[in-house]
Amino acid sequence: MIAGLKKIWPPLLLAPMAGLTHSALRTSILSFGGIGLLSTEMLAAARLPAENVRLSPYLVRTPEESPLSYQLLLSSEHNIPKVFAALHRFNADAIDLNLGCPAPVVRRAGGGSSLMEDPERVRKIVQCARRNTALPLTAKIRLGETLDSQKLRDFCLMLAGEGIDMLTVHARLRAEPFARRPRWEWIAKVKEWIDIPVVANGSIDSVSSARACIEESGADGIMIGRAAAVTPWIFADIAREIYKLPLPTVKISLPSLYQNFTRALVERFQPERRLGRLKEFTHYFAKNYFFGHHLAAKVQASLTMEDAWVRAVEFFGENDSDGTSGLVASFAAFVRGEEGG
Ligand SMILES: Cc1cc2nc3c(=O)[nH]c(=O)nc-3n(C[C@H](O)[C@H](O)[C@H](O)COP(=O)(O)O)c2cc1C
Repeated sequence: MIAGLKKIWPPLLLAPMAGLTHSALRTSILSFGGIGLLSTEMLAAARLPAENVRLSPYLVRTPEESPLSYQLLLSSEHNIPKVFAALHRFNADAIDLNLGCPAPVVRRAGGGSSLMEDPERVRKIVQCARRNTALPLTAKIRLGETLDSQKLRDFCLMLAGEGIDMLTVHARLRAEPFARRPRWEWIAKVKEWIDIPVVANGSIDSVSSARACIEESGADGIMIGRAAAVTPWIFADIAREIYKLPLPTVKISLPSLYQNFTRALVERFQPERRLGRLKEFTHYFAKNYFFGHHLAAKVQASLTMEDAWVRAVEFFGENDSDGTSGLVASFAAFVRGEEGG
């Protein structure tokens, strides 16, 4: 898949997810391979120029995390030159505009999905963005407020006409919950309307659902969100099975994966930024286990990283066939030392 002269291969993309799509999850995914484009979580545009890349939990990144798309939350073209200059300094590989977030707090500030109700404002944003970067410029949308082909078509054509290089469609209406089946058939419509690459998103959580989505939508690529936090190896599985990448099948050890994730949080994030991220990840990762809600609850109730780690090890000992044998014995002490305890 080619977006703005950059090749994305395999056409498998990590979805931006607030609190989840950060350096630790990205390196976990990279350890298995199969990812074509990584992402940050949504970034408040106004704050970016002043952020410290080494300390900011939103921006911290290791050199291997590439190609990496930075997703912007903005409500107007105001400040775009400064914000984009910052993104160029951060070595962004692509810039994505968030036009789909349904969160009330984001909408009240004039961002996310509220922008789909104001196409002329979005036109100005995209025109200004296009003038300020030669990087691939992409956008992510939902289907809108109601199912309205004409309105959605005009919006997508406007985006493509103003220079958006690739469009991701989360196939749900603004107010639809994740429990609702995604409308992949609407992605097929978008694909017919515009001639830039279209990426399908929504409830892809296995090789078979990836295959079904590609068949139904005809999309050029797929983007995966929640399932990436449950099974960070999902991109490798899809790349191997659908795109025939010669990736080795590796035996997954969930306790080791969790340890590596925890280590990345401890090594790369400021102490006060670690535990919240571990809890958020564990909420999804725990779904690998039949009794995973116990793991999620134990970590959720922890007051320190060390606490969380000790409780997780206890859980692995009781619920994982790998047990704790592959874990570093002194890891709790390492976590404690780094917490300054
Ligand atoms: C915890 C969480 C945070 C999210 N944050 C963002 C975000 O920052 N930007 C965005 O465009 N979408 C965000 N989303 C939506 C996802 O990118 C994606 O569109 C959605 O989860 C559907 O894909 P999935 O079924 O593969 O998870 C978020 C979703 C979740 C679950």
